[in-house]
Amino acid sequence: MSTSRPTPDFDKIRADFPRARTAAYFDNASSHPLSSQSANVLRRYADWLEHDVGEPWWPAWAKDRDEAQHLFAQLINADRTEVAFARSTVEAESNVLNGMGEHLAGGNIVTNDLAYGSILSNYKMRELDGLEVRIVRHRDWQIDLDDMATAIDENTRLVSVALVSNVNGLVADVRALSELAHAKGALLYADIMQAAGGVPIDVREMGIDIAACSTFKWLMGVKGYGFLYVRADLQGTIVKPSQHGGGISLNYEPWRAPDPEKPDITFGSSQGPAQYEISYPSYEGALCAQESLRYILDLGVDNIRDHARQLTDRLHDELPRLGYQGITPRDNGSPILSFITPDPAAAMDRLRAAGVHVAMRFGNKMRISPSVFNNQDDVTRLLETLS
Ligand SMILES: Cc1ncc(COP(=O)(O)O)c(C=O)c1O
Repeated sequence: MSTSRPTPDFDKIRADFPRARTAAYFDNASSHPLSSQSANVLRRYADWLEHDVGEPWWPAWAKDRDEAQHLFAQLINADRTEVAFARSTVEAESNVLNGMGEHLAGGNIVTNDLAYGSILSNYKMRELDGLEVRIVRHRDWQIDLDDMATAIDENTRLVSVALVSNVNGLVADVRALSELAHAKGALLYADIMQAAGGVPIDVREMGIDIAACSTFKWLMGVKGYGFLYVRADLQGTIVKPSQHGGGISLNYEPWRAPDPEKPDITFGSSQGPAQYEISYPSYEGALCAQESLRYILDLGVDNIRDHARQLTDRLHDELPRLGYQGITPRDNGSPILSFITPDPAAAMDRLRAAGVHVAMRFGNKMRISPSVFNNQDDVTRLLETLS
């Protein structure tokens, strides 16, 4: 969601991330470091676990967890009643698909080859059960809307894309894709793992029906905790819960003096987003998400994106001169960009020796993903190392 906050002092922000002192760390699309504020929350929690654990299992648990989900809803312009906690992106999407059996039956899913690999694999496994999966191929590392439009037809039940691709940071035109999907009665799922916290998201304006992410990338949190967004009217109707938890009441002896007005056994599914929430979530994850979401909302996602853009623009312009061919469009708007690397092993050796961290993916694709704590000195260090 667009935030329009005053421009923060990014030098001060750098001081919140001790990782910036130990390296030129440009691999936030793999794992974002914690801020000192979030790390302190975890320390406090670990301290409590070590010395004071007992019921209630964290004194302000209900409030903290609720606030994390509320802040996430604010981040993506959803309602709190549309946000469940999740354990991971792929698990959340998998559960959603399991719960959409009736909607998907006899139909097809349209996606593309810049989506996350495990999600594509998840779809292909479902092909074995009769679901048709259409993977549109990129053209020169971009997704052609016409190609997607051709693949989407009356039988399409779900159009599924990464809002920001992990391959090259490409930002999908979800508004247009959502219109294409909805025109054929299909839903739009957005994998927002590489987007949430790094680029503005407005699920209403973008026409996103379902989305998921976990928190260890641009949400600056830890693994094992994330969020699932399901549009209110889809909950329990088209997207049914695919796992069941909840409570049970045994209305007989010796459990309790039976109430003759009530059945022997009473159980029921939860309502709202809680219907997708099973078991205890990670308290560490929720507390960390609460802290980091406060931090991100306070900075403003627009400001975060604009800061990264100054760094990605320079890399975009200067790395091709050093022989690295970019595969990310210039005005793409995400904090991720990738380059074909002539000699990946040698480049990684030099970067490691210089304390510069990037990712090398798919053999020779160098992915660089600056965040709030990176500055132009970091970019200079990277460019000098590769020149
Ligand atoms: C676009 C994208 N989706 C999903 C994932 C996996 O997320 P999770 O571990 O939460 O399932 C990643 C991880 O790199 C990713 O980049």
